[in-house]
Amino acid sequence: MTNEKVGLLVGRETTFPQALIDRINAEGDGVSAELVRVGAVRMDEPVPYRLIVDRISHEVPYLRAYVKKAVADGVIVVNNPFWWSADDKFFECVLAAALGVAVPRTVILPNRSYEADLIDESLRNVEPVDWPLALDYVGGFPTVLKPAIGGGWKNVTIARTMDELQRAYDESGHLLMILQEFIAYENYVRCVAIARKHVLISKYEPANDHFNRYVTGDPGLAPSLRGRVERDCLTLCRALGYDMNTIEFAIRDGIPYAIDFLNPAPDFDISSLKEEYFEWVVRQMATMVMQYVTQGQPEPAALRWQDLMNEVPVV
Ligand SMILES: Nc1ncnc2c1ncn2[C@@H]1O[C@H](COP(=O)(O)OP(=O)(O)O)[C@@H](O)[C@H]1O
Ligand SMILES: [Mg+2]
Repeated sequence: MTNEKVGLLVGRETTFPQALIDRINAEGDGVSAELVRVGAVRMDEPVPYRLIVDRISHEVPYLRAYVKKAVADGVIVVNNPFWWSADDKFFECVLAAALGVAVPRTVILPNRSYEADLIDESLRNVEPVDWPLALDYVGGFPTVLKPAIGGGWKNVTIARTMDELQRAYDESGHLLMILQEFIAYENYVRCVAIARKHVLISKYEPANDHFNRYVTGDPGLAPSLRGRVERDCLTLCRALGYDMNTIEFAIRDGIPYAIDFLNPAPDFDISSLKEEYFEWVVRQMATMVMQYVTQGQPEPAALRWQDLMNEVPVV
């Protein structure tokens, strides 16, 4: 092994990165962790880490370029930037359905508008949205309009009328949007999945304010439903190659519909997770990092999505 250093790329969060660094450094075993610091990166300059935990490159393209180069140097990057770069919520739903995971009916929409320098000739393949047809497929109103790649509930609209839908679509501007069946749920859970192996299932109240959505205690799932939710989380994370992710399920008529599973840099702040779940996350992340550094990262379930989709779906 050439290097036993672990680097963290971090966003605005404060509690999680330091807790992870402290935990890894306390465990010792020849592995140390620190915040990555980089300026202009030369192509022939090896990235000096064995593993990088990436929590921010989705917002900083320069850091995405850096972690892609790190992968080329043989560094383990969590989450893998190539799988992540290829992901969006429409594709995820297609993949999930093929793997036997229930998802809301979903439609990809042409953008409301495009950058000014994209001329009409380049859009000759694109037809206007046939709203009645799209709405019929997703079960009518209420319906969900949200970005195909997004987070933090930004530009997410639950539209109850055509007027509301039209207004939200008009306001979406250059964003790529999906239209999605609204799942009127009897229960809602959010799961943290680490290392494509460990799943924490928490009751979740989307209607509460940001800091009070995770609800500790028994999420109130029957054992068989619990088993299915856990299995679905692992199916999705193995298929998408995510070593850290959160997956939400809206449960309707006893069926867990996967709602949001494109969270490859999930909010791990103690103020959102609460102490009990925060402790679990830091422990699982530290254990995973140490294992990957010393034993290598397990291969993804398949190296191509098509390989997974051609397998018999898990039911
Ligand atoms: N299809 C849906 N049915 C019911 N509720 C939904 C649906 N899609 C989104 N929501 C609600 O909106 C919230 C934000 O949507 P989400 O897909 O998680 O966007 P973001 O990635 O911005 O967090 C979810 O936590 C959920 O409460
Ligand atoms: Mg979400």
